[in-house]
Amino acid sequence: MCSSTDRCIVDTLFCQLVPDMTETKTVIAVSHLQKQVLAAAANKDKETLSILSDINLTIVAGTSVAITGASGSGKSTLLGLLAGLDLPSAGQIALFGQDLTQLSEDQRAALRLGKVGFVFQSFHLLEHLTALENVLLPLELGRNSGDLKQAALAALEQVGLSSRAQQLVTKLSGGEQQRVALARAFVTQPQLLFADEPTGNLDRHTGQEVSALLFRLQRDYQTTLVLVTHDESLAAQCDYWYRLAEGRLQRQEQSA
Ligand SMILES: Nc1ncnc2c1ncn2[C@@H]1O[C@H](COP(=O)(O)OP(=O)(O)OP(=O)(O)O)[C@@H](O)[C@H]1O
Ligand SMILES: [Mg+2]
Repeated sequence: MCSSTDRCIVDTLFCQLVPDMTETKTVIAVSHLQKQVLAAAANKDKETLSILSDINLTIVAGTSVAITGASGSGKSTLLGLLAGLDLPSAGQIALFGQDLTQLSEDQRAALRLGKVGFVFQSFHLLEHLTALENVLLPLELGRNSGDLKQAALAALEQVGLSSRAQQLVTKLSGGEQQRVALARAFVTQPQLLFADEPTGNLDRHTGQEVSALLFRLQRDYQTTLVLVTHDESLAAQCDYWYRLAEGRLQRQEQSA
């Protein structure tokens, strides 16, 4: 039979375990997040602009989450807050169980290092570098060992661009540049990937190719994906879909 002391020890251990278990599953937890900025008003005075008024969101490891909304509704602002690139005006935001509002900019960058990847609408590649050098960059900046060049080449192969590895990225087409950006984002095998309109600058066919690749890589690496998009067919492919309007997120039911 269990003594009361044994019971107490078991309860204490359980209490210690439960937060760890939930932390590993919950990648992002946001409550009552607000963002206001000072913006130039028509009469040239500054006025407070409320971009996000009450955001509540939990994102679980390995899932894909789409955020849609009208232009100017605050999607990129929200992504920047979720990634700890910017701080909220009020509310709580935890990334990998760490309260971002309590961390310095350097600490937030350290938390992202090797764990978080980004893909942007305008690719954000370094133009004076080749495709290979762009993909190598996050490996060289992070705490990585082994044959980094081989790893970068393998990532380029996954996006079908091994033959263009030595090409300056400015010589590549838009779709090819976005594939280099995907290779760069996935080469460190991040747990979490933020993508801000990754197909927004591509024609329909190329956009479909790039989004198929994005979902394939997300599945292969079991990455948590937070995808901002105007493309509702892309949003419908995610596990969860939220619409941002008037500073709040509204869950959109997936049809299938
Ligand atoms: N630092 C800032 N100062 C002033 N206004 C800002 C600032 N940051 C964002 N805004 C404004 O907040 C609103 C939301 O911007 P945001 O870039 O998040 O929108 P979005 O939903 O990503 O739009 P899009 O779909 O066009 O990319 C816009 O009206 C923008 O001008
Ligand atoms: Mg945006």
